[in-house]
Amino acid sequence: MESSTNQTGNASMANAQGSASQSSGHAVTMFPTICFVTEHPDAEQMNRELEQFCLAQETTHPRLQTGSIQGGYHSNRQIFDHDNPAIQQLKNLLIGNARSYLNAYWKQESTIPLASVENLSLQMTGWSVILRQGDISTPHTHPGAHLSGVYYVTMSEEARESQPGAGDLVLVDPRIRASVAPLRGQKSNAMFTPKAGGSILFPSWLEHFVLPFKGEGVRISIAYNVTLSPSAVQRD
Ligand SMILES: [Fe+2]
Repeated sequence: MESSTNQTGNASMANAQGSASQSSGHAVTMFPTICFVTEHPDAEQMNRELEQFCLAQETTHPRLQTGSIQGGYHSNRQIFDHDNPAIQQLKNLLIGNARSYLNAYWKQESTIPLASVENLSLQMTGWSVILRQGDISTPHTHPGAHLSGVYYVTMSEEARESQPGAGDLVLVDPRIRASVAPLRGQKSNAMFTPKAGGSILFPSWLEHFVLPFKGEGVRISIAYNVTLSPSAVQRD
């Protein structure tokens, strides 16, 4: 406890013991960014069929021109409209993941219970992204959507082992002002290493990008947006 000295030179303790009110402190976390990570270890067969589907689509459908993918293939955004069994299996799986994520995300973000939102529905659109040697996805967000995610269909194990970090998804620290006075070893961007059967969900406003994919083989992912029904959206 600090002491002070009065004009007569006597040290006095502010709020001397016995009369002081006890104070205590504790750490609180504010403004966390809730994301959602899943693994699907029994998805080998589905992934094989998804890989065939995506590679075939690459040869039959022109790539969608977007500002974020450089060098790779970006399909149109209607991938879940195909009646391919593996696509429909994945769609159901990802909708389940999105609902689980929404429960956690909503609890963090909103002051009202999710259960009080009437006629809640989730609209999902998705597209494939195929990257090979040197292809990248530059920093971007997904405007207009609420939740976004990526499911990894194929990730070359050889490339992953020979080029650690290559092809990783980078989630950019949204606390941009934290870089004004960084600490030693300042935690900043979060890295997510793709693995076939793995997936991640994050808020659509969270900026992200993909480090250049290097090595042999291919990196195939299916990205998706989830848009909530108007009943769940703040109105002015
Ligand atoms: Fe993205």
